[in-house]
Amino acid sequence: MPALTPPLADAAPATERPRFVHQGIAFGCDYNPEQWDPSVWREDVALMREAGVDLVAVNIFGWAWLQGPDGDVDFRALDEVIELLHAAGIRVNLGTGTSSPPPWLTARHPEILPVMADGTTRYPGGRQAWCPSSPVFRRYALALVDAVARRYGDHPAVALWHVSNELGCHNARCHCDESTRAFRRWLREQHGTIDELNRAWGTSFWSQRYTDWDEVLTPRLTVSSRNPGQVLDFHRFASDALLEHHRAEAEVIRRHSALPVTTNFMVTAHIRDLDYWSWAPEMDVVANDHYLDHRLGAPRTELAFAADLTRGLASGEPWLLMEHSTGAVNWQPVNLAKEPGQMLRNSLAHVARGADAVCFFQWRASLQGSEKFHSALVPHAGPDSALWREVTELGAAVARLDEVQGTRVASDVAVLFAWEAWWANDAENRPTHALDYLDHVHAVYGALHDLGVATDVVRPGSDLSDYRLVVVPGLHLVRDADARTVDDAVAAGAHALITFGSGVVDEHDRVRPGGYPGAWRDLLGIRVEEFAPVLPGTALALDSGAGASLWAERMRVTDATTVVDRFADGPAAGLPAITRRTEAAGPGSGDAWYLGTLLDPADLRAFAARIVDAAGVRREPGASADVEITRRVGDGRSYRFIVNHGTDGVTIDARGAELVTGTVVDGRIEVPAGAVRVVREEGAA
Ligand code: GAL
Repeated sequence: MPALTPPLADAAPATERPRFVHQGIAFGCDYNPEQWDPSVWREDVALMREAGVDLVAVNIFGWAWLQGPDGDVDFRALDEVIELLHAAGIRVNLGTGTSSPPPWLTARHPEILPVMADGTTRYPGGRQAWCPSSPVFRRYALALVDAVARRYGDHPAVALWHVSNELGCHNARCHCDESTRAFRRWLREQHGTIDELNRAWGTSFWSQRYTDWDEVLTPRLTVSSRNPGQVLDFHRFASDALLEHHRAEAEVIRRHSALPVTTNFMVTAHIRDLDYWSWAPEMDVVANDHYLDHRLGAPRTELAFAADLTRGLASGEPWLLMEHSTGAVNWQPVNLAKEPGQMLRNSLAHVARGADAVCFFQWRASLQGSEKFHSALVPHAGPDSALWREVTELGAAVARLDEVQGTRVASDVAVLFAWEAWWANDAENRPTHALDYLDHVHAVYGALHDLGVATDVVRPGSDLSDYRLVVVPGLHLVRDADARTVDDAVAAGAHALITFGSGVVDEHDRVRPGGYPGAWRDLLGIRVEEFAPVLPGTALALDSGAGASLWAERMRVTDATTVVDRFADGPAAGLPAITRRTEAAGPGSGDAWYLGTLLDPADLRAFAARIVDAAGVRREPGASADVEITRRVGDGRSYRFIVNHGTDGVTIDARGAELVTGTVVDGRIEVPAGAVRVVREEGAA
């Protein structure tokens, strides 16, 4: 069976790409002037200057504003807005405007509307109602991009191109006839023959064998669960279809403009439709949108994870925080306002993890429309408000951090993460629905985070040779070649921590036989014979006294492997729960650790600390769940970020210049509860 093409992009090498060049850390927002009378625009620009805004995204939802049914594009209003911004020295992050088709287009071409898995159409009246594979939509969209890029391709105000908006936020998976045909074409490219497709999807099961490509559908709703190989390939196809759309817009822009092109990613907990490992190489600069999600157990830790992952997508380079919120969003069941100081902490937590821009959705709170109760830089209450004062304080703080721009975050620990593994793990039929992939990843990442360990989140298959510790949390799907990079890292002296559910299936979602985790059985010297998850609320105990939940498994170990802890009760009582194989890849190599259950947070933290220390990885003194401490370094400079989310002040050893307050630190720095401090460290490299 041929290996599926790994989702590697055929993009220009990074060195040939235009770079996003900006004076210091950018501070800005989405600006939707079409919602306002032109008389407001002048006040907007004056307030932007007051707050220190220097990068503004316009024309994000501009299509209906620019173009009417006759096809003519009227740039007069957009010209005026861009000139106003330019005159004020504010740079433009220019949207192509294609995010939402105007009603005249969907009325004329209803075939561009997306169709759901149950066969129902999604109609205009919201946003993003278009099929990613529709040639008709593409034609109209590219015509608009062409007009916009011709007009502003070398405008001195424009700093960056912003393709569409959050591609795939709502319309990633379309099942219309056009998408079905495109899916078949994609499958032919990947699998070659219908026999290979049958093998890859295991269609001998449940009488699913295909005899012709025309029999193959997108995974629409069925009366039972669906073929998981088909679902997995559909995820891949859907991600590729939107990437193709991005690429088409970017190509048109590049015909008229030498400026950098990006689109805003959604590296976040609640959207998982795009494999950004394949998208990232096509970006001239990586940009992300992030909103705190209060439906999660630890929203702040998720922010840190998303920021580390975005940096991974940027190959360690600085990236742009393109959107976040000054306060409440409007799309969670209860939309929490931020506490005083929280906006600054959230913003600088992103900068601490590699962001070179702090931008928001949106400039001025809408008075109408779906997002009228979403926070903005200028709230409904206007500039005479506590929130506006915080915005101006943040703008000033960001300006004081300008010198941090371009530096990078250093880390000795790699955490492997993959969207493919997310799709494969969270399938319809699986050992337990009580633990999703991302929750598993967050649990393990959270332990490292709370220990003050700097982590890079990287793609499976990346070069791991520079890391002291490689962490593989629940990476259900992994290709053989990608799995071997972990073995190679261990052979080169790194320690590895692999947790349950990892390495079980290959890229076709086919189980590796002979005992789990097939991909790393030999490295770990273990053989898991049976999964034995437990019901939520069932407490598990280990011999050491550690507590655990949700997952147990029945495992045997080889002679070379040490049992670190055993299940004291539950379905695997007496069997190993944690193992360690010392010098797992031969003399001089690192150790391979395996965790076969979900330890309770404090026990997971203690276990992670043991491995971190064994691997010789640095923990930031003073860091904790409440106090994030990270470093950005470069050109002989080192900046230590201390973000105190807690209710108590902390004192940290430090020496140098503190940038937020502009004071000298002579040995120790006090960081009050809720404050952020950034120390340019003396004598540090
Ligand atoms: C993003 C989107 C913005 C706005 C924001 C609200 O998904 O790009 O246009 O809707 O969310 O949180």
